[in-house]
Amino acid sequence: MCMRDAVVVTGGAGFIGSNFIHEWIKQTSYSVINLDLLTYAGNPANLSALDENPRYLLEVGDICDAERVASVLHTHQPRAIVHFAAESHVDRSIDSPESFIRTNVLGTQVLLEQAHRYWTELDAANKSVFRFLHVSTDEVYGSLGPDDPAFSESTAYAPNSPYAASKAASDHLARAYYHSYGLPVLTTNCSNNYGSFQFPEKLIPLMILNALEGKPLPVYGDGANVRDWLYVGDHCAAIRAVLEKGRVGDTYNIGGKSERRNIDVVHTICDLVDEMDSSVAIGSRRSLVTYVKDRPGHDRRYAIDAAKIERELGWRPAERFESGLRKTVRWYLDHPAWVESVRTGAYLDWIKKNYTERVTS
Ligand code: NAD
Ligand code: DAU
Repeated sequence: MCMRDAVVVTGGAGFIGSNFIHEWIKQTSYSVINLDLLTYAGNPANLSALDENPRYLLEVGDICDAERVASVLHTHQPRAIVHFAAESHVDRSIDSPESFIRTNVLGTQVLLEQAHRYWTELDAANKSVFRFLHVSTDEVYGSLGPDDPAFSESTAYAPNSPYAASKAASDHLARAYYHSYGLPVLTTNCSNNYGSFQFPEKLIPLMILNALEGKPLPVYGDGANVRDWLYVGDHCAAIRAVLEKGRVGDTYNIGGKSERRNIDVVHTICDLVDEMDSSVAIGSRRSLVTYVKDRPGHDRRYAIDAAKIERELGWRPAERFESGLRKTVRWYLDHPAWVESVRTGAYLDWIKKNYTERVTS
């Protein structure tokens, strides 16, 4: 079997996957096949600019479906798989963990197994260049105290939410396929991303849209939980660097050295929205901040030590948090049609369920 100059991306219709595909098309000469189930979080409109591009193809399918995965690999003969597909929202995982176990654990195992079968049939030259890149999260490491050192690649796993536990399990499976079968796997563990095309159930886009519309800004607990923010374009560049130069079997932590308390992120968004959309009726958006019931088991602090990827692969974040956040607010203000298209009935049901319970209990 001979490989083509193509990569298969799973979950490419989601937030990070769609940013990755746009940049992959710009930065490389390879084609991309996007294997995506188009769940509530997957939106083909994120990639509509590539509809006529002969280097991009959407294959609608489930990573848990072994036959479908095998057929995509055999048809397109990729030189790499970049695995983003997942259930990704922590609050939804606490509400209903089953789909997280199905997609994140079982789906990753199915994908690894089919990748292994495909890889086994390649000739020696193609075998040596093939890569399986598993995209994971810093949440597998658990929660830090205020003075703890940042998570490194050797920090012990201590996942605290069903989402984090399912991603930890998927990381262990990826590792096992490397050690047991020699599949050329690489794993990345990244901190919180923000940027264009992020589904507005996550903190930053939710706050931008609520602020714009003069709605309450629901901050969980005391608002002092800390996340380490990374602009999505920097995450995509890091993944390309790991694909190109990463050591097979290794893991790489990716982060932006931008630790911020949630309340400070929300205040910055308020000020940016005030500046870009002054509305006399709404006034200062900071007055919309509403403290609501905390997320159960809410991790207090994440911080990534990205020294390994910086040292070994020469990657560094290019975007500062303040400039990246400004671009992101601008993007949501400039794309009202995209926003309307993702606010389906199912989305509104989730928002009602999550926030009504928090405010009333
Ligand atoms: P997302 O929820 O925006 O997108 C997930 C995509 O996966 C969607 O397009 C969805 O349709 C697809 N998908 C879900 N189940 C599927 C299945 N069974 N088969 C095929 N496709 C399926 O997620 P995201 O925020 O873009 O995250 C992408 C990956 O990056 C995830 O693996 C996540 O764990 C990881 N990650 C995310 C962040 C972040 O801040 N968002 C940070 C670090 C790591
Ligand atoms: O750290 C990487 C992870 O970042 C990824 O693996 C996940 O897929 C991604 O969803 C994200 O997880 P978080 O739980 O950190 O992101 P979220 O945007 O849901 O929340 C960020 C912080 O903001 C968190 O401390 C909870 C808080 N929050 C969130 C929402 C949605 C609020 O205070 N209010 C809210 O309405």
